[in-house]
Amino acid sequence: MPRLTRRDLLKAGLAVSASAVTADAAGFLLSATERDTEMAAQFTSEGNSTAIVDVPASREHLLLDFDWRFHLGHAANAVKDFGWGASAREAAFQKGDSFFPVTRLKFDDSDWRTLDLPHDWVVELPFQNGPERPDHASKPIGRNYPETSIGWYRRVFEIGEADTGKRISVEFDGVFRQATIFFNGFYIGENFSGYAPFRFDLTDYANYGGKNVLTVRVDASLSEGWFYEGAGIYRHVWLTKTDSLHVAQWGTYARSEIQGDSANVFITTEVENEDDIAKACRVVSQVVDHDGRIAHSQTTTAQVSPWGRYTFAAQVAVPRPMLWSIEEPHLYRVITTLESDGTATDRSETTFGIRTLRFDADKGFFLNGKAVKIKGTCNHQDHAGVGSALPDRLQYYRIARLKEMQSNAYRTSHNPATPELLDACDHLGMLVMGETRMMASTPEGLSQLERMIRRDRNHPSIILWSLGNEERAQGTPRGAKIVASMKRLVRKLDPSRPATVAMDDGWGRGISDVVDVQGFNYAGGSGGADTAKNIDEFHKRFPTRPTVGSETASAYSTRGIYANDKEKGYVSAYDVDFPDYGLNSEGWWKVFAERSFLSGGFVWTGFDYRGEPSPYKWPCVSSHFGIMDTCGFPKDNYFYYKAWWGTEPVLHLFPHWNWAGKEGQEIAVWCHTNLESVELFLNGASLGSKKVERNSHVEWKVKYTPGVLEARGSRSGQVVLTEKRETTGAPNGIVLHPDRREIAADGEDVSVIAVEVVDAQRRVVPVAANEVNFKVTGPARVIGVGNGDPSCHEPDKADKRSAFNGLCIVIVQALRSAGEIRIEASAEGLVSASILVRAEAVSLRPSVG
Ligand code: GAL
Repeated sequence: MPRLTRRDLLKAGLAVSASAVTADAAGFLLSATERDTEMAAQFTSEGNSTAIVDVPASREHLLLDFDWRFHLGHAANAVKDFGWGASAREAAFQKGDSFFPVTRLKFDDSDWRTLDLPHDWVVELPFQNGPERPDHASKPIGRNYPETSIGWYRRVFEIGEADTGKRISVEFDGVFRQATIFFNGFYIGENFSGYAPFRFDLTDYANYGGKNVLTVRVDASLSEGWFYEGAGIYRHVWLTKTDSLHVAQWGTYARSEIQGDSANVFITTEVENEDDIAKACRVVSQVVDHDGRIAHSQTTTAQVSPWGRYTFAAQVAVPRPMLWSIEEPHLYRVITTLESDGTATDRSETTFGIRTLRFDADKGFFLNGKAVKIKGTCNHQDHAGVGSALPDRLQYYRIARLKEMQSNAYRTSHNPATPELLDACDHLGMLVMGETRMMASTPEGLSQLERMIRRDRNHPSIILWSLGNEERAQGTPRGAKIVASMKRLVRKLDPSRPATVAMDDGWGRGISDVVDVQGFNYAGGSGGADTAKNIDEFHKRFPTRPTVGSETASAYSTRGIYANDKEKGYVSAYDVDFPDYGLNSEGWWKVFAERSFLSGGFVWTGFDYRGEPSPYKWPCVSSHFGIMDTCGFPKDNYFYYKAWWGTEPVLHLFPHWNWAGKEGQEIAVWCHTNLESVELFLNGASLGSKKVERNSHVEWKVKYTPGVLEARGSRSGQVVLTEKRETTGAPNGIVLHPDRREIAADGEDVSVIAVEVVDAQRRVVPVAANEVNFKVTGPARVIGVGNGDPSCHEPDKADKRSAFNGLCIVIVQALRSAGEIRIEASAEGLVSASILVRAEAVSLRPSVG
């Protein structure tokens, strides 16, 4: 990449052309306050530079994830809570610096546990059949468990003498929940939401040229959702250092419009001047494509008042842009450089994409002018082995699994996502409906919404903002007022995307009259009949209002289980069980596929998640709504979606054929396929051929005899695919499948290793439950195990796991040194297996030492 010197920067900045574009002419929305407080004239100029501006600017964005100290506190006992709330004068708010020992450098935390973020302490707690917490996965968290509901984190680090004069801030991507932040013994601030990102300025409180301590008290006594939420600093933390003249947090916003074969990119840059003197500021915004080619650049100059903020506006033309799409997710970057009095003061990069979107009341959703049916899933954010603390790589892993199923959309139910999930969606081509947690027009509600939108509005994957889910006020005038206030804020911060609310009642009233896109959760359900009736009625009454299925299905199924078992908490994986408000897979998809005015919908859910065990409670501790289990192993319904959402031929035969003891009894045999007909064979004898109806499955009743069940799927009279289910022998060995054999030696990357228990012929034994032990040698560690069994009470943090219906996973994380990682799996009576994964040396992302 060509480098520019400061001189070059100046040169690039001075390449002025005659055409001036004012902020308003560029179509930007500046708030009245912003307009009033900004000063000085703005000069905008266009220029083509030939190289990316790459100056040494003072911004540092350092990962603050490694080497924290952690200790549980106590919600009801001040002594066990390190003095918090004790009557002593210093354990309260009398003075800004009167905070107690645990917040100070001198405090001895040597007996605290050392850990790296992201961290979720709830996933480490044992399961407990408590009276009120099944929704939260039967973990001892909440008001009734004061001894496990508070967590304290401390991190000591140096700030150099050379940083004197810089602005220093700490940024949290998400802490569950109620975080109180202290720095060097001073109270810094409080954050309420468990999902919204937050930031605090530490400049006045830092020790320059010495040690500093950041202390965080996390109180998870209260919940925000009705599902597993975890607890702790479960997303990244960053230390940011900037010059006093810098781009504000989330201050760059790139929005594009297509005109003919060119795109106009409107870029706003909010610049903060945290200094006592006004500063002349020159902003260079370069739009750079994936290969580092500069599409165009623009330079804007203005005066920024002392302790003021100025919103610079630029308009950059990108001829023949590479559009972001589901199939080809092209991305661009804006490289923003600030310069004042001949000195570069800041440089930041913002990823964005160029694409158009439109929701049409008659024809559904359009991406880049092309009709796209939304084939989406709703998801919570936890995963097997790690709870809510997902390494970034797992986000990509999950999105890739959904894409393989031919899903094209993801709803971040019911909260703002972690930024890396959205990065994964941008990079892999997955549409997103981003949702805020709190439907409220209160300062807290609007602040959470604002933080989500400002942070996420550059992600091309996001197509829709969801402002609420199944709120009690949904059909009421009050609900309408609240959402109107929220929508006003959405428009101000991001005029490019519509707003919706996921409503399970009250369609056509209240909030319905305010949203841009009507969201239907189930729309009455009852297997599809009421859904179709209610949605059709709505469309007839409001033919100009676009619609989407914000939540559909809610089908129960346990991977590899073919009969309901209340005692064990399992539900059959045939597509037959759902709550009365909901639908099964075929039920909802038939309704939505047949109606072109519907934009499509989001299944509840893509993956199983902890908590909300349904329909059975304890010993079940996890939901069954997923198309995949908590590990990402597909259930049978996965193939229904893959067949009818995709175009490639699919043939999936189930159940397994290990029914010892059921000889002579009838077993329901199903096929999910998009072929025209399927012929079934048992031990070579035909059981007949069945025609496949669109968006349906085929099924037989077959008297069980051990052997080989085979399906042959045909199209135009030709057999296209065959699939077999064979009665296997007893468990004999183990097979390991890492999702990647090379990972980065960065202390963050993971390989997800699928573990199969197989018979002597290496066929997965579909009923195997052997306990598998893992041994990892080399520069790596096990960060979690899982098996997708919704009723399993074995720990996630362990080096062993029982297989569930033949399968389990172990997640192995690289340390920060390169080398060969050997993973060995053994189980009593089985032949062991071992594989190698390589941790490759990479340049580490900048982090706090
Ligand atoms: C919906 C709700 C989801 C989940 C689901 C279970 O009503 O929005 O969060 O609870 O039901 O079926």
